[in-house]
Formats: sequence, structure tokens, C-alpha cells
Amino acid sequence: TDRYCVFGHPIGHSKSPAIHAAFAAETGQQMEYVAIEAPLDDFAGAWRAFVSKGGRGANVTVPFKQDAWQLCDQLSDQARRAGAVNTLVLHEDGTTWGDTTDGVGLVADLRRNDVMLEAARILVLGAGGAVRGVLEPLLAEKPRQIKVVNRTAEKAIELAQDFAALGAIEGAGLDGIDGQYDLVINGTSASLAGDLPPLPDSLFADGGVAYDMMYGAEPTVFLAWAQRQGARGIDGLGMLVGQAAASFELWRGVRPAVDGVLDELRSQLQ
Ligand code: ATR
Repeated sequence: TDRYCVFGHPIGHSKSPAIHAAFAAETGQQMEYVAIEAPLDDFAGAWRAFVSKGGRGANVTVPFKQDAWQLCDQLSDQARRAGAVNTLVLHEDGTTWGDTTDGVGLVADLRRNDVMLEAARILVLGAGGAVRGVLEPLLAEKPRQIKVVNRTAEKAIELAQDFAALGAIEGAGLDGIDGQYDLVINGTSASLAGDLPPLPDSLFADGGVAYDMMYGAEPTVFLAWAQRQGARGIDGLGMLVGQAAASFELWRGVRPAVDGVLDELRSQLQ
């Protein structure tokens, strides 16, 4: 049986083993997928040990996405630009290839929710690793503009420069938020602490959508605020399942359907 895993620290609450077990059942693939807590100081060693026991690929989550990026022998263009890897693939010749499927998962979930991206005005909150990982697939959808704003303005400005060759993208501080947006994506880790960056009223255009990369049993503070502003709110559970589906396809060559798994996970959140 081909073996896969997700590496993280901590990893106990990961939903990935259940998601991939459901994908394997649905597509008839023989495989095993487990969660492994890698030591903080030796991610590469954990990957090598897994490979020596028959590991064929892995997902990588917090805090190892940059360590994973560093150990890869080859990277997809997208992973190289993102500076992060969430999917490791062991090639036949023993080399390790890395990709990032977070952005593909986000775009797939936006499409699934009928959110129009082409020509859209998009505001992205945050300029950390989570945001860096999703900008390329978003820009590929040809939005009119992506504005990245961050508490630390310089990080957003630098980030926008790194992606400027791919489309209309601009960086600024939180005080640089102006105009109205069709889609506002929260990529800050602020909601983990129940925090919300200060945001102006009338941020959303008519029919505007708020997307939080986080999720929970209750709406996040960002989504609760957005709904009070009249926006449609979507949380990041679908992005989680979407990135898993894209990784599964990289390993197995078949794309699983996400809806059944997503419904199941949603019902378990309650
Ligand atoms: P991740 O990998 O989740 O993106 P990160 O790289 O540490 O984690 O980035 C966290 C992001 O959330 C950053 O954009 C951070 O803003 P700063 O760059 O100014 O630190 C943002 N963030 C975290 N807590 C926040 C808060 N309370 N208010 C506003 N932004 C916050």
C-alpha cells in the first residue's frame, strides 16, 4: 500500500487523514494516510524517515511549509514564488518535488460558491505565508485588481512587488483601504485570537463576498462583521478540502469530488 501523511506540529486535530481516507474510498485508490508530528528542529529528517518506510508523498502544515520548501530537489513555479510547500511528492528516482495547492484550493472553493473572479476588485487582508501561498492562482483568474493590505505596510508592499509580474496587484497598510470590493479575503491570523483588523464600513460592493481562510463551528469575527455589512460570508473549510483534493490529484492522478466530504466535515463542526 502506498503511504502518505500530513506533517505538522501540533497535528492531533488535523482533518487531513479523514479527508484523504474519504477521497481514497470515493476514487477506489489503495492507500494509507496518517498524521505525523515532526520535531520542530528536524523536518527534513522526518521526511527522510517517512520515505525510508515507504512514504510516497505528504502534506505539510504549520509550521513546516518553509522547511519543506527548502528540502525539495525541484519545485513548481508556484511553490518557488510562494516560498512555501504544502505538498511533497517522491519521484521514482528518489528526488523530492514540492508544490503548493492552497491557492488552487481557494480558487476552486470560490468557484464552487459561484464567486466571480474575472474583473473582480479583490481586497486581501494580511501579508504572511498564508496570503503568499494563494496570490498566483488568484491573479491567474484575471481580477481587475488585487489590493493586499497589512498591519505592517512594508510587508504588503514587498509582497505585491514579488507578484507584480503576474497581474494588477498593489500593497498598502490598513489605512490604504479605499473604495469598494467585490471580494474581501481575510488571510490574517488575527481571527485565531478573535481579533479583527480595523475595517471601514461600506467596504463591500453590491453583492460583495467575504471569504475567511479560517473556519469554525461559529462564524469567525471577520465573517460576523461582514454579514452585518450585508456581504455574503464563506469560511475556509472548503479551501481546506480543496487543497487536499489538489494534493490527492498530484499523487494519484485522479481528482476526487469534494462535496460529500465537505458536508460531512461541516456536520462534524457543529
Ligand atoms: P500565516 O502563515 O498564517 O500567514 P504569518 O506569516 O505569521 O502567518 O502572518 C500572519 C498575518 O496576520 C500577518 O499579515 C500579520 O500582520 P503583520 O505582518 O503586521 O504581523 C497578520 N496579523 C496577525 N495578527 C493580527 C492582528 N491582531 N491584527 C491585524 N493583523 C494581524
